[in-house]
Amino acid sequence: MAQWDLLLTDARVATLAADAPDYGEISEAALAISDGSIAWIGPQADLPTGSAASTRSVAGQWLTPALIDCHTHLVFGGDRAQEFEQRLQGVSYEEIANAGGGILSTVRATRAASADELFDAALPRVQALLAEGVATVEIKSGYGLDVENELKMLEVARRLGESSGMTIRTTLLAAHTVPPEFEHQADKYIDLICGELLPDVAERKLADAVDAYCETIAFSAPQVARLFRTAVDLGLPVKLHADQLSDGGGAELAAHFNALSADHLEYTSSTGVNAMAKAGAVAVLLPGAYLTLGETQRPPVDALRERKVPIAVASDCNPGTSPTCSLRNAMMLASRLFALTPLECLAGTTREAALALGLADDRGTLEVGKRADIAIWNIGHPRELTYWMGTPQLADLLLADTI
Ligand code: NIG
Ligand code: FE
Repeated sequence: MAQWDLLLTDARVATLAADAPDYGEISEAALAISDGSIAWIGPQADLPTGSAASTRSVAGQWLTPALIDCHTHLVFGGDRAQEFEQRLQGVSYEEIANAGGGILSTVRATRAASADELFDAALPRVQALLAEGVATVEIKSGYGLDVENELKMLEVARRLGESSGMTIRTTLLAAHTVPPEFEHQADKYIDLICGELLPDVAERKLADAVDAYCETIAFSAPQVARLFRTAVDLGLPVKLHADQLSDGGGAELAAHFNALSADHLEYTSSTGVNAMAKAGAVAVLLPGAYLTLGETQRPPVDALRERKVPIAVASDCNPGTSPTCSLRNAMMLASRLFALTPLECLAGTTREAALALGLADDRGTLEVGKRADIAIWNIGHPRELTYWMGTPQLADLLLADTI
């Protein structure tokens, strides 16, 4: 007879399993959890005989995999509301960056902040995500841009995981922009990252992946390639901010290095999409940045669909281009701005987001063996998770470690 830690009954379930039709709906379902993993899931009528340490009827509420925000920069100092006002008056993101603002203004504020100050500012941001059903969050560095401050950011990100109970995946984004000490010497800065910072980060296991910003205002494709070779040699997977403001061949570059994902992609060509399809890279779409920057060129969603590139959606929470701590908001924006279906938006913040973090074997769907991070919702149908804006609908969030 099966022994479970927790048995959930009287549920409606959206498994989001890749081989199930639509949402993978099971009505009148039960779900059993043992040792933090899903031990059984299916129609309640088929539940095998077993005993559970505790049983909970969810009285017809919907269960989905807990949400996953697979692209954020939520550890940072200061804010950029003033730049937002400038941009509303017609000054472009590139103009602000070229005048020493933009990412560099957040670098100044982040360097000036202590680790505790950064932690205190970031904790409410992860708590806001947790309150809307997010159990896994990726957090990038990239506002330190020197050894000491990049390490500080990654350590703060790790601490956020310990205090919030969420899974935090950290990404080294030291190649976010060229720091002032290396003005006009981007190659020398890449040398520092490859020779010193990256090996240190790898040895201390402070990052789960390496990211870069491939753009005219940041790093060229050959510079990113050099960084990625070092990352891969050190056993770290890569991902890329690709083709956000121009087609710099970012998607092809990411594919060449078997990146987990290429992110943004507004200007990605069909060659880039084909390369991603071949490499199995996930397309991470960031509608918050598209909206905030007043972009008009959409990512190539139809081509991504045609070539069956998995599409994830993330908040991109950052002070410059996506000032939001809501993944639900990003889902709504992705549907309206990029014409993703509500199903694509939910799959994009569960199953495909897990894939984008290299965690697909462990989470992102409700299937036997998967981690029991489970969201319980007050909704009539999962399409409502994309439809409602800024509306709390989470009834409960079960985190595997606390069951
Ligand atoms: O994802 N594109 C580069 N990085 C961030 C923005 C960072 C910033 O402006 O502070 C992004 O949009
Ligand atoms: Fe980003």
